[in-house]
Amino acid sequence: MVKIIISSFCLIFLAFSTVLGEPQDTCKKLKCGDKGPAVHFPFSLKGRHPDHCVFPGFVLSCNEKHETILDLPIPFKFPVKSIDYKAQAVQLYDPESCLLVKLLKVFNKSISPFHFSKDFMYDITLFNCSLAERQLDEPVPCFSGPGYQVYSVASSYSIENLALLSCTKMYNLSSVPYFSDKPANLYLEWSEPNCGQCEAMGKMCRLKNNGTKSEIECVDFSKAGTKRKWVATGTNASTAARNLNIQLEAIPELE
Ligand SMILES: *[C@@H]1O[C@H](CO)[C@@H](O)[C@H](O)[C@H]1NC(C)=O
Ligand SMILES: *[C@@H]1O[C@H](CO)[C@@H](O)[C@H](O)[C@H]1NC(C)=O
Ligand SMILES: *[C@@H]1O[C@H](CO)[C@@H](O)[C@H](O)[C@H]1NC(C)=O
Ligand SMILES: *[C@@H]1O[C@H](CO)[C@@H](O)[C@H](O)[C@H]1NC(C)=O
Ligand SMILES: *[C@@H]1O[C@H](CO)[C@@H](O)[C@H](O)[C@H]1NC(C)=O
Repeated sequence: MVKIIISSFCLIFLAFSTVLGEPQDTCKKLKCGDKGPAVHFPFSLKGRHPDHCVFPGFVLSCNEKHETILDLPIPFKFPVKSIDYKAQAVQLYDPESCLLVKLLKVFNKSISPFHFSKDFMYDITLFNCSLAERQLDEPVPCFSGPGYQVYSVASSYSIENLALLSCTKMYNLSSVPYFSDKPANLYLEWSEPNCGQCEAMGKMCRLKNNGTKSEIECVDFSKAGTKRKWVATGTNASTAARNLNIQLEAIPELE
């Protein structure tokens, strides 16, 4: 009986310290589904992260297919494939692979606080061909119709070498975030907030406590966690450790 009481007390204590190990105000990593990217500051999940974890413009939501959706100030919603918190980059994809058609509709629109990754911008020329062109890549998805197909060719490509007899040139597009090899992928970056510096130091990024809702600070997660744990129990590390020792020692004596 004594053994049971002491054991359960010990279990309760362990459960208690596990809960406290995670500071209450941590903006936890959350996911929309098993495969989705881990969402944490500066991103937050709408309705699931508390207000102090929200950085304006970086709000994601989960849809019914458990995809992580980025709400850009354009009429298209794209699911997030991955987030590189260190490089401050996010990879989106278009499930319909209609990216170029959609991008052309919002070509000049701001996608602030994000911008298209310069590494994935291309100058392209579009051709409208009445026959399938074996010399060219796959036609641009969603751009083709009955009796014609639209192709994108890198403008740097020497088009003179191609005998595109059944094609007419439509137009040139400069710096479009579209590459015919990856017709569904969209790469964005952000500069502010500069949380990548925290990530690079192995620290956690969060909104400054007294800040203006846009100032961030890097926090050493392990230290912040430890401090809060003992403050919360109203005791300190040495006292708690001694208590734990007493209980652990008590059990073998009763066996
Ligand atoms: C984009 O904006 C520039 C300048 O604001 C304008 O000259 C250009 O025609 C616009 N392009 C499109 C596709 O709307
Ligand atoms: C491509 O050319 C065909 C035939 O000239 C035309 O009917 C079609 O609208 C063109 N497609 C685009 C996207 O301009
Ligand atoms: C498109 O770009 C090519 C190569 O840069 C150039 O030769 C051509 O004149 C351009 N066409 C238009 C319509 O701007
Ligand atoms: C927030 O606190 C820091 C020091 O803890 C101080 O330097 C800064 O001025 C404060 N900012 C505001 C907006 O009160
Ligand atoms: C922590 O516990 C030790 C030993 O009981 C005590 O001497 C010390 O004052 C305590 N520190 C704090 C911050 O409560």
